[in-house]
Amino acid sequence: MLVLDFGSQYSQLIARRVREAGVYCELIPGTTPWDAIRDRAPSALILSGGPASVYEEGAPRCDPAALNAGVPVLGICYGMQLLAYQLGGKVAPAGKREYGPASVQVADPAGLFLDLPAHLPVWMSHGDTILEAPAGFRRLAESENSTIAAMADDAGRFGIAFHPEVIHTPQGREILRNFLYQVAGCRGTWKPAAFIDQAIEAIRAQVGEGRVLCALSGGVDSAVCATLVHRAIPGQLTCLMVDNGLLRRDERRRVEEVMQRHLGIDLKAVDASEEFLAALQGVIDPEEKRRRIGATFIKVFEAEAASLTGVDFLAQGTLYPDVIESTSHDTHNAHRIKTHHNVGGLPADLRFKLVEPLRYLFKDEVRAIGTALGLPDDMVQRQPFPGPGLAVRIIGEVTRERLDTLRAADWIVVDEIKAAGLYRSLWQSFAILTPLQSVGVMGDYRTYGNVVAVRAVQSEDGMTADWARLPYEVLAKISTRIVNEVPGVNRVVYDISSKPPSTIEWE
Ligand code: XMP
Repeated sequence: MLVLDFGSQYSQLIARRVREAGVYCELIPGTTPWDAIRDRAPSALILSGGPASVYEEGAPRCDPAALNAGVPVLGICYGMQLLAYQLGGKVAPAGKREYGPASVQVADPAGLFLDLPAHLPVWMSHGDTILEAPAGFRRLAESENSTIAAMADDAGRFGIAFHPEVIHTPQGREILRNFLYQVAGCRGTWKPAAFIDQAIEAIRAQVGEGRVLCALSGGVDSAVCATLVHRAIPGQLTCLMVDNGLLRRDERRRVEEVMQRHLGIDLKAVDASEEFLAALQGVIDPEEKRRRIGATFIKVFEAEAASLTGVDFLAQGTLYPDVIESTSHDTHNAHRIKTHHNVGGLPADLRFKLVEPLRYLFKDEVRAIGTALGLPDDMVQRQPFPGPGLAVRIIGEVTRERLDTLRAADWIVVDEIKAAGLYRSLWQSFAILTPLQSVGVMGDYRTYGNVVAVRAVQSEDGMTADWARLPYEVLAKISTRIVNEVPGVNRVVYDISSKPPSTIEWE
């Protein structure tokens, strides 16, 4: 299955949902010419949403041949408008922007809504609407303000105005499954673990007798990447861990323990915290922090790598979202919120050839593979941790002292969350050191100390998130322990904002 990406923030999510349904799926730029699409022989196409308006000059369009090739098509939101517009229908600005929860009334199941109730809650996000469906199309469903919420023709071309890929459309998975199985005739037999043997073969073929270097971050991606390479070519891998001083407490020791002792992987850890702290001195702007951390990482890594002889390959735990992100940036369709994926990334002109065994996988698929490879649960199920580390959780300047404060508070948050058995049910849970000072009282003394914020969110993929309704007792324990155990902190607050409109990290 191919998703033609028109720049929606949810495009990757569509691909994930399709894979969850057991159908292998990739994302390609929406404007890809039909010849290139045809070469991939997809069972069907999904046209994603996107921020543009189809009638605007310069709006990204689909190659018309792709819409008329007899391959089933599902247009979602912008994708639906594109289908309507390019096939001769009428699209215009809606009187009112539809954003958020809505509901649709299904008049004709037409395969897509098979076995689903006639009344469906859905998630909408669009400013345009379809006034007239193209010739040959019929209305399958209408929304509350009686727009065309779904349409189809007899050639297997479907459009839906809402987003089936987000969890706020409760029956979205069923709708996508219906498209895959009922309309496109897919069977749903693809599984992530099937990927291990294939990856090992590919690594052997690529590397041969060569030597491979892999940078370990402490996260699941680089750990799974290194384990796969080690499994494929034992004895030919060296791992490098750059300790940037922005890691959580105990992080480095834990990585050394698992990789070196448990798996027998050759690991070299370098303490570069001085260099990173020097680079961050006086920096307050979040993007500038990311930029400097990225640049310092490259400098340290290059110097270390230069001291290793005979290494030709660099293994990286690049995931599919990172690969796709760069495609979207090329087409300028998606809006950039934070520069997530260039931190910890390396420049293309390194003398190494890249080995990227995870570049077609999503995070949850990487976890499944990590487990299948025998990595400990503690490593595989780790909550994501940003590349720039604690630097983007210290609002304001990053100093050694402030890092120590945050590290101590963060340890308590995670410790109590784990003790309450909540760690795995949360996408992320952590502490933030705010730049605020507040008045408190301790014993008979007035204090003027730091404010620590606690953040815990639930999310499927980090793209949307809801603040976690942590039990009061857990919050109470976290708060009491932080003010008692962390010097200089006299107040703890809990972040009750969701994404959007907030983001998960504060910077
Ligand atoms: P936001 O804060 O944008 O974060 O809601 C979404 C997810 O991305 C992680 N994140 C980063 N990861 N480098 C990374 O490798 C970064 O600069 C970065 N910023 C945010 C964040 O922890 C969350 O999981």
